[in-house]
Amino acid sequence: MADATKRYAVVTGANKANVANFIKTHFGKLDILINNAAISGIDVDPDALVAWVNKKVDRIEISPQNFEAAETTVKTNYYGAKETFEALINLLHLSDSPKIVNVSANMGGLKYLPNGWPKEVLNDVENITEEKIEDILNQFLKDFKEGSLEIKGCWPISASAYIVSKAALNALTRILAKKYPSFCINALHPGFVKTDMTKNVGDLTTDEGANGANVDSDALAAAGIVYLPNGWPKEVLNDVENITEAKIKDILIQFLKDFKEGSLEIKGCWPISASAYIVSKAALNALTRILTKKYPSFCTNALHPGFVKTDMTKNVGDLTPDEGAESVVKLALLPNDSPSGLFFFGEKEISF
Ligand SMILES: NC(=O)c1ccc[n+]([C@@H]2O[C@H](COP(=O)([O-])OP(=O)(O)OC[C@H]3O[C@@H](n4cnc5c(N)ncnc54)[C@H](OP(=O)(O)O)[C@@H]3O)[C@@H](O)[C@H]2O)c1
Repeated sequence: MADATKRYAVVTGANKANVANFIKTHFGKLDILINNAAISGIDVDPDALVAWVNKKVDRIEISPQNFEAAETTVKTNYYGAKETFEALINLLHLSDSPKIVNVSANMGGLKYLPNGWPKEVLNDVENITEEKIEDILNQFLKDFKEGSLEIKGCWPISASAYIVSKAALNALTRILAKKYPSFCINALHPGFVKTDMTKNVGDLTTDEGANGANVDSDALAAAGIVYLPNGWPKEVLNDVENITEAKIKDILIQFLKDFKEGSLEIKGCWPISASAYIVSKAALNALTRILTKKYPSFCTNALHPGFVKTDMTKNVGDLTPDEGAESVVKLALLPNDSPSGLFFFGEKEISF
C-alpha cells in the first residue's frame, strides 16, 4: 500500500519497484525504511509459546516443520528485506539522514544457533559477506529438505527457519552498516508482542511494540520496565508492594557483576542494548514508587520528557529542549494534592 496523503508507504509482495517509483514521484527521497514483514514458518500453540518465552520450558513445542514453509520463511524474512533495501537504496541516498530498521527478533540472536560453522561465519563480523550468508541459507534449506538438520548438529531444530533467517538478517544488517557508514542501520527485537504471529499472546500491545521500533530513542528516554526482559529483576522492580531500596541495590550490583563478566545476554534477564541506561532508569522509577509511599505528603513522580534534541541524543529528537523542559516544569509546578507516584510521558500518564 502506498498512500500519497501519508508520509510513509507499506511495501508488500512484488511491488517494490512500483513503490520506489511512487516514493520518488511523491516524496523525492526516502528517509526511513522499516523492514517489518516476516513470517514464523511454524504453527505454535499459544500456551507453549508463553511457557517457552517465560523460560518455563527449554524448547518450544511446535507442530512438525515443513520444507515449503521453511523456504518461504527464508525468502520473506531475509531476501524480502534485502530486495526491498536494494529497490530503495537510491532513494535513501537522497535523504539527509537515512535510517533503516530491520525488524528482527531475539530468536535471531546467535545464541539460538548451536555451535558450528554457520554460527562462526555469521559471527565473524570482519569477514562476513552477503555471499557467505546466502551459502549458509542454501545449505540450511538443502539440509532441511534432506531431513538432516538434527544430524548435522549446527542448525536449530525448533523454529529453525525463523531463527536462521533472522540471524541472517542480523548479519546483513552489520554488513550494510559497514558498507553505508553515513546511514543509520540497525536491527531490532520489538519485544514479545500480541500479533497474528504470536496468536495474540505476548507482553506488549502492538502500539508498544511499534513504539520500540520507533528508534532506540524511546527505549533510551523512557526506559520503562517494559524494556527489561522477563526475569527476576523485572519481577522485583515491578512488585510495588514489596520493593525496597536494598532490593534495587541488589539488582544494580548483580547487573554490574553480570556486565563485567560478559554474561548479560546469557542471563536473559537484562536488556542487551543501552543496558545500563535502561536498568538505571528502571531503578530510578522503582525508587520513585518507594519514595512516594515513604513520604505521602510529598508529590513524587517520574517523567519521560519525550525524545528531545540534546547532547545525549546527538541533537536528534522530536522536541526542542524548551519543549522537553515544559513537561518537567509543569510537573514541578503541580498544585497541592496532585497525584503522586506516577510515571508521565510529557503530560500523559503512562504505566511504569
Ligand atoms: N510479535 C512478536 O512478539 C515478535 C517478536 C519478535 C520479532 N517480531 C518481528 O516483528 C515483525 C512483525 O511481526 P508481527 O508480530 O507483527 O507479525 P504479523 O502480525 O504476522 O505481521 C507480519 C507482517 O508481515 C507481512 N508479510 C508477511 N509475508 C509477507 C510478504 N511475503 N510480503 C509482504 N509482507 C509480508 C504481513 O502482511 P499480511 O498481513 O499482508 O500477510 C504482516 O503485515 C516481524 O519481522 C517479526 O519477525 C515479532
